[in-house]
Amino acid sequence: MHNFDDLVHAAAAAFAATDDPDALEQIKASFLGKSGQITALLKGLAKLPPDERKTVGAAINRAKESVEAALNGRREAIRRLALEARLAEEALDVTLPGRGQSRGGLHPVTRTLERIDGLFRSIGFDVADGPEIEADFQNFTALNTPADHPARSMHDTFYLQDQLGGVAEGILLRTHTSPIQVRYMQAHVARYAGLETMPEIRVIAPGRVYRVDSDATHSPMFHQVEGLWVGQRVSFADLKGVVNDFLRRFFESDDLQVRFRPSFFPFTEPSAEIDMAFMSGALKGRWLEIAGCGMVHPNVLRHVNIDPEKYIGFAFGMGPDRLTMLRYGVNDLRLFYDGDLRFLRQFV
Ligand code: PHE
Repeated sequence: MHNFDDLVHAAAAAFAATDDPDALEQIKASFLGKSGQITALLKGLAKLPPDERKTVGAAINRAKESVEAALNGRREAIRRLALEARLAEEALDVTLPGRGQSRGGLHPVTRTLERIDGLFRSIGFDVADGPEIEADFQNFTALNTPADHPARSMHDTFYLQDQLGGVAEGILLRTHTSPIQVRYMQAHVARYAGLETMPEIRVIAPGRVYRVDSDATHSPMFHQVEGLWVGQRVSFADLKGVVNDFLRRFFESDDLQVRFRPSFFPFTEPSAEIDMAFMSGALKGRWLEIAGCGMVHPNVLRHVNIDPEKYIGFAFGMGPDRLTMLRYGVNDLRLFYDGDLRFLRQFV
């Protein structure tokens, strides 16, 4: 009686000795492969006397089945080990506390713009915007600023380059929000072209503006809010009323003074600078210029086909960055644009 238990045990032990799938297949070959031990035994059958072949052959086959069973068992075990290792490696600890999601907040200048927006809407003003890349005509010509005016110089204005690197004819970054006056009036005139008398224009236009300027109190990009009221009976007194009322509501205080200081702008006549000061508090008595303004120049109205004999109006251009500094007591404009969260978080 032949017994191949030792061989089966040797195979099982060899399989158990590795946990590497490739190594396991190598070991398998040494038992079941072309020149493996079991295969050699089967080949040897031919040399046995015929009456022994049957029993020995059956015993070899049983041994072969046992080796194959041991192999499959080990394959399965190795696969499970590998899976467990991977699961352990990729495990997420769902009990860890989260990193937290901090809430964003509005930039202080954005808060100011929203406030201005709301206050002017409440007295019947529309809110408009216009392109930051502006045409020479709207930024200067239509605003009664002729080609030789110093405001047009390269020192003050960012002109755009054409594809060859030269200065693109008539295209620039707007230097103020006043071109929106022009665009808004053009659209208004077109819309009410058929009417004997056009409805009044009441609009503000907030936005970014650009000048070649950079120091402690000037940033090459800053904000303006344009205001425009054109009708048949609009006076400088209305301008003063609107601005005074706006400032008192913006700062939620009657304890401030406003003065209109004569000035010059090509697109208004007469023109003034608006200064304000608080009469109490930390900033008491410090006058700060916050806007330019005036009665819309007849030439501006002519450029947009509005009859200056029939219509009259006022315009102003405010600096919301300045208003923000006053409202929050900030003394350096640049802080608003540094993007330092330690500063900005204070306003959220
Ligand atoms: N556009 C002017 C400036 O940027 C301000 C202004 C607007 C003045 C409207 C008068 C009327 O300085």
